[in-house]
Amino acid sequence: MILAINSEHVDAIHQMCNIAFGDNYVAPDYLNQYILSSHKKGFVLIENHLLIGFILVSFHNPTEIQKEILHDKEWYTNEYYHYNTIGIIQQVVVLPEFQRKGKAEQLIKHSISFFKNTIDLFLCYAWVVKDKIPIRSALINNGFTSKKIINSYWKEDSLNKKYYCKLCGPPPCNCSAEVYLLKIKAD
Ligand SMILES: CC(C)(COP(=O)(O)OP(=O)(O)OC[C@H]1O[C@@H](n2cnc3c(N)ncnc32)[C@H](O)[C@@H]1OP(=O)(O)O)[C@@H](O)C(=O)NCCC(=O)NCCS
Repeated sequence: MILAINSEHVDAIHQMCNIAFGDNYVAPDYLNQYILSSHKKGFVLIENHLLIGFILVSFHNPTEIQKEILHDKEWYTNEYYHYNTIGIIQQVVVLPEFQRKGKAEQLIKHSISFFKNTIDLFLCYAWVVKDKIPIRSALINNGFTSKKIINSYWKEDSLNKKYYCKLCGPPPCNCSAEVYLLKIKAD
């Protein structure tokens, strides 16, 4: 069962983020925005009363997206300036014991379907983990295509916000992101 995130889910999601990404990359205040803001939406996947996965999607107009993208804003603007409502898949996590069963794919499919009449373009800055992209298949199977790799995508952000990366340890984070994109509205 997929439900919209509510305040009862925040603790479980926070713990899952600390384990999946590193301490404080995602703070409870950040998660609360996905309950309160009209421009952010989160879904949880519940099976047998257990929260086994979640997805967070934010949406932006062409001005706001400039603040959201951490690197290579020029590339984005040059290619996709004509899209009015842009959805960013911010975080997807599935509990380790439920991975490799298509759960992330299911959460992404649900989000695309939920927003198909409001969002023109979906973006995901996917985490590159030791040369692999854990979310890659779930994106590709939902029609996303890979556009480019951006090295040290979170470097300045990790220094500013002082979060630990699970792979790099204390800031700076030197992980790369691969940019995936799905056009909902035709060019
Ligand atoms: C990334 C993450 C969310 C993927 O979740 P998931 O539910 O395992 O994703 P999916 O099952 O949809 O796809 C994962 C793999 O399982 C495979 N798979 C899907 N259904 C399957 C099934 N029924 N049987 C066997 N394999 C299956 C997919 O093909 C994919 O294979 P690949 O990675 O070798 O290409 C999960 O690994 C996770 O939480 N990682 C830590 C946090 C993270 O990295 N988040 C992404 C940041 S961008």
